[in-house]
Amino acid sequence: MKIAINGAAGRMGKMLVSLAEGAGMEVIAKVDVLDGYDKSWPEGVEGVIDFSHHSAIKATMAEAVKRNIPCVIGTTGLTADEQSCVDEAAKVIPIVQSGNYSLGVNLLLEMAKKAAAVLGPEYDVEIVEMHHKHKKDAPSGTALMLAKSVAEGRNVAPDFIYGRSGETGERPQGEIAVHALRGGSVIGDHTVMFAGDVERVELVHKAQGREAFAAGALKALEWAKGKKAGIYTMRDVLGFV
Ligand SMILES: NC(=O)c1ccc[n+]([C@@H]2O[C@H](COP(=O)([O-])OP(=O)(O)OC[C@H]3O[C@@H](n4cnc5c(N)ncnc54)[C@H](O)[C@@H]3O)[C@@H](O)[C@H]2O)c1
Repeated sequence: MKIAINGAAGRMGKMLVSLAEGAGMEVIAKVDVLDGYDKSWPEGVEGVIDFSHHSAIKATMAEAVKRNIPCVIGTTGLTADEQSCVDEAAKVIPIVQSGNYSLGVNLLLEMAKKAAAVLGPEYDVEIVEMHHKHKKDAPSGTALMLAKSVAEGRNVAPDFIYGRSGETGERPQGEIAVHALRGGSVIGDHTVMFAGDVERVELVHKAQGREAFAAGALKALEWAKGKKAGIYTMRDVLGFV
């Protein structure tokens, strides 16, 4: 499969380029705003993977729709407007969109949903993520997905709070809180904490390299080839849903 990688000069982009050949893909466009990278896709691109910046998403969607090719979106921090653009594009082409392409995190999403359903709102949920100091959006897409899994498990609306400060008052039952830490070179740590009165359950994932995200994204593009138009997640690719 001949593919384009958007954000090819970035941490994830470079990892995708290095793993593509082993996944049976040929990268024919390495696109990035930085000098020395392609600024457009040549004829013959059969699929695109975008791990760039949210401001790039509208252009990626327009080009993928024009060419009628599948698209994998790893980029996080999309505005509501950018997300609507993805949703519109998914009426025409297959799109896999996930805040995390690793097997371990997608398993964690299932576990968080199950734990939330079993433990109920009496167990206070605090989600804590930590990433390297260069990350540009917060909280992480993965932390948001975990929070949504907890809400799904409890069968409540996805309503979250982000951090706390000042005179907060007592913690209301049922609150789902998300906290973002930044520093050093941490690739991605996530903890979902269920704090009860007499015990605490913690589900923890620590990424040790970017390979897991890149390999998952390449697998997702291969899977998306020939699928009907729509938005899919990594859970669809892995057969979890
Ligand atoms: N879904 C996942 O599994 C997963 C995993 C890691 C990172 N991410 C997300 O992927 C994105 C990239 O992460 P990163 O750590 O590689 O970041 P990075 O900053 O290292 O790389 C981003 C690259 O995109 C380029 N870029 C910026 N605007 C562009 C545009 N308009 N067109 C083309 N290229 C553009 C930048 O020049 C840079 O080289 C972030 O949104 C991050 O949160 C997702």
